[in-house]
Amino acid sequence: MNICVIGAGYVGLITSLCFAKQGNRVICVDKDIEKVDKLNKGIPTIFEENLEELLNECLTSKTIFFTKDIHQTIRDSDVIFIAVGTPEMDNWDVDISQVTEVINQISYSINDYKIIVNKSTVPVGTQKYVKELLIRNGVSKDKFDIVSNPEFLREGKAIYDFLNGDRIVIGYDSEKAKMVMEKLYSTFNTKVVFTQPEAAELIKYASNAFLATKISFINEIANLCNKVGANIETVAYAIGLDKRISPEFLKAGIGYGGSCFPKDTKALVKIGEKNECDFKIVNSAIKVNEEQRLLPVKVLLDKYKSLKGKVITILGLTFKAGTNDIRESPSLFIIEELLKQGTIIKAYDSEASPEIKQIFPNIIYCHSLYDSLIDSHCAVICTDWEEFSTIDLSMLKKKMKNPMIIDGRNLLDLEEVKKNNLQYYSVGRGNWINY
Ligand code: UDX
Repeated sequence: MNICVIGAGYVGLITSLCFAKQGNRVICVDKDIEKVDKLNKGIPTIFEENLEELLNECLTSKTIFFTKDIHQTIRDSDVIFIAVGTPEMDNWDVDISQVTEVINQISYSINDYKIIVNKSTVPVGTQKYVKELLIRNGVSKDKFDIVSNPEFLREGKAIYDFLNGDRIVIGYDSEKAKMVMEKLYSTFNTKVVFTQPEAAELIKYASNAFLATKISFINEIANLCNKVGANIETVAYAIGLDKRISPEFLKAGIGYGGSCFPKDTKALVKIGEKNECDFKIVNSAIKVNEEQRLLPVKVLLDKYKSLKGKVITILGLTFKAGTNDIRESPSLFIIEELLKQGTIIKAYDSEASPEIKQIFPNIIYCHSLYDSLIDSHCAVICTDWEEFSTIDLSMLKKKMKNPMIIDGRNLLDLEEVKKNNLQYYSVGRGNWINY
């Protein structure tokens, strides 16, 4: 099948490569000529497991091509995927102006029947809006069908997730479009859910909001564990043994970040508001997360009263391990608050995107984990990088001014911590050790 993907960002690039790998001819369009050139040369533009190999495999087999020429690409394609950004606005609404722009371009270029598939995360009702916009732009009703096909990709595991997802969701309102989508996904060994476009759009938000709620729930239980002396790991393990609950997303810590959960939970609340549905649970999950990510600051203030002049080491800047993405990372909120308190921040993350230096130009970026600990009054583990769980604690003790760790991801072994006589706070594994 001739497929065109508009947008070579995270979702667009993964979608393009995975469809190309399945034997389709894919053209991926992006406005950014630098990005297009890099990708055509086999240079990855995002940090993602197995991306470079897959990109080069598809370029060699000539199943993928990147271009800036949207007009010709639309004309040459049977199926057009829209994978452009839908950022959050200040009022929690979703900005779909890039989707509108693409639809206007399609309206101009369309020559014969196309299936237009929306992969971007968009508010419920967008399929309908897009349809109306095309008609308003003068495109005849028999020239297109609009399908909603949300993605459920985890950063770092996106290629694996695309090819081995738990489900593929397709919202359609035409049998012709359903047949084409069925054929397109026939090579995937994944359950396909066919439904109305509104349901498909909602499934994406409901899934992310449910997972975010699960995290906030376990974080509240962890905070209680700290008070009553229970261990969250045992509690979460035992809860998760119930198949109706499942063990996934029960890892307590300093909250969720990333490009999806924070944005999608707020968007769902907003969509609810517009439809007179008050999402109390999701609203609370958002509030719990906002408080949870500042837990290390609260702990530090309890200990030191004033943080002025204290040297604090931030271990991990990305929102989770396996990515260079710092969007909505808990560490950003922690650093911001600690700077307000007058601390000196030393940070270490070997992968974090260089964008971080624009956000915080005045903190000290260290090139080695152990250098970042020199003269520090406390190390705060913000990201679950493997490197931090295998840290040499006796070396850490030698480097730090005061050997104190706030382990925001529960990475360290409690026995090792005790053996090394460190001051240690983790999330729900008993309150302070050696304090
Ligand atoms: C998520 C969804 O998993 C994916 O299906 C969707 O399409 C996009 O959003 P992603 O943002 O890449 O993917 O990250 P994910 O691995 O789900 O983790 C999100 C955040 O939750 C991270 O900050 C992570 O550290 C945190 N988390 C996750 C926890 O705090 N505890 C857990 O048990 C799981």
